[in-house]
Amino acid sequence: MNAATSLKTVVGSAASTAPFDLVRIRADFPILEITVNGKPLAYLDNAASAQMPQPVLDRLVQYQTREHANIHRAVHYLSETATAAYEGARRKIQRFLNAREEREVIYTRGTTDAINLVMHGYGRAFLGKDDEIIVSQLEHHSNIVPWQLLCEQTGARLRVAAINDAGEVELEQYSALLSPRTKIVAIGHVSNALGTINPIGEMIERAHGAGAVVLVDGAQAVPHFAVDVQSLDCDFYAFSSHKMFGPTGVGVLYGRPSLLDAMPPYQGGGDMIASVTFERTEYNVVPYKFEAGTPNIAGVAGFGAAIDYLSSIDRRGALAHEDDVLAYATERVSEIPNATIFGNARHKTGVLSFVLEGVHPHDAGTILDSEGVAVRTGQHCAQPIMDRFGITATIRASLAIYNTRDEIDVLVRALERVRGVFA
Ligand SMILES: Cc1ncc(COP(=O)(O)O)c(C=O)c1O
Repeated sequence: MNAATSLKTVVGSAASTAPFDLVRIRADFPILEITVNGKPLAYLDNAASAQMPQPVLDRLVQYQTREHANIHRAVHYLSETATAAYEGARRKIQRFLNAREEREVIYTRGTTDAINLVMHGYGRAFLGKDDEIIVSQLEHHSNIVPWQLLCEQTGARLRVAAINDAGEVELEQYSALLSPRTKIVAIGHVSNALGTINPIGEMIERAHGAGAVVLVDGAQAVPHFAVDVQSLDCDFYAFSSHKMFGPTGVGVLYGRPSLLDAMPPYQGGGDMIASVTFERTEYNVVPYKFEAGTPNIAGVAGFGAAIDYLSSIDRRGALAHEDDVLAYATERVSEIPNATIFGNARHKTGVLSFVLEGVHPHDAGTILDSEGVAVRTGQHCAQPIMDRFGITATIRASLAIYNTRDEIDVLVRALERVRGVFA
């Protein structure tokens, strides 16, 4: 369970940061003060979207009120200011990921868009009939459906690495799927439905041994622990700002420069070109080749502030705190007589998925909401996982750095109320 100490992808936070202080962290997030249905909010839906701290909110207001113009296009003050915000955030993200160069960081609309960029830019250019793409049974639909589309368009085949009853990828079966036909391995770093942390370094090494390129869906990893793309040695890494305390509508695709250079553009339009005539268009260099049209400049400014915020806190301490709250939640929910937890991987972070026998998760969700508790109920865009366990939906409590044991107590009391209603 203890992700903080067990993973080589977790790197220490800067020695200069103050130790993790839950009270101070909570004070940074104004939304945590609201009441819902007359009860204090217990926000346990962070895997869907996390909340924004005050510095990110301030940055958005500052950008919109004092800095906004279009980027890269004009010599006037505001355009240069907006461009500096946009490109400055790229540098922050480069450092955050320990990427070698700024051009390895491509802005997207989010994880889904980043995966689709690789599907179009790499998949359609370099895959053909009978090539294979490996995903795992743990994937979010965003890391399944684009590959199915690619298979339809190219004649490639999708292969699926199975999971065991604990919700862990079966490494030997995964290795057996790898062959010279494998061109892409697309794998989640952390499961949004079960919280499993995949042994991603090992999986990447084995995929590279077979000559495949690896895309890691890091949407649920970056909010919880530091990720170093150089030490992972992945080819692509995708994630979203809104799950890591930034605004919606923006995300990142990290890519290995040799691959990005070889890939054709994803979309055509302004900014992604060097020159255009009716006879011939020359594309801009990476990363701009993949950033057609006016991007979400305000979102990027806020994203940069979210990176600053995460970089300013003691991330090891934050992860240890989240691990503690997850362990406590696991213990408390397993004491509920009709509760079954799904996903008991040895390495987990941030997610507790469970059902209450005799209660539809949506009904439970509605009663929890009346108690001020926000959880997600349903299949969490991961229907194959539900199918694997023979269920249709779960109740998912997902954690962020600001959640507390007290909120878990509120959740458990509300679940007791649910039990009472359906007894
Ligand atoms: C593991 C995982 N991958 C991809 C996504 C899609 O992210 P977005 O909707 O921000 O594109 C999510 C969102 O929940 C996710 O949890």
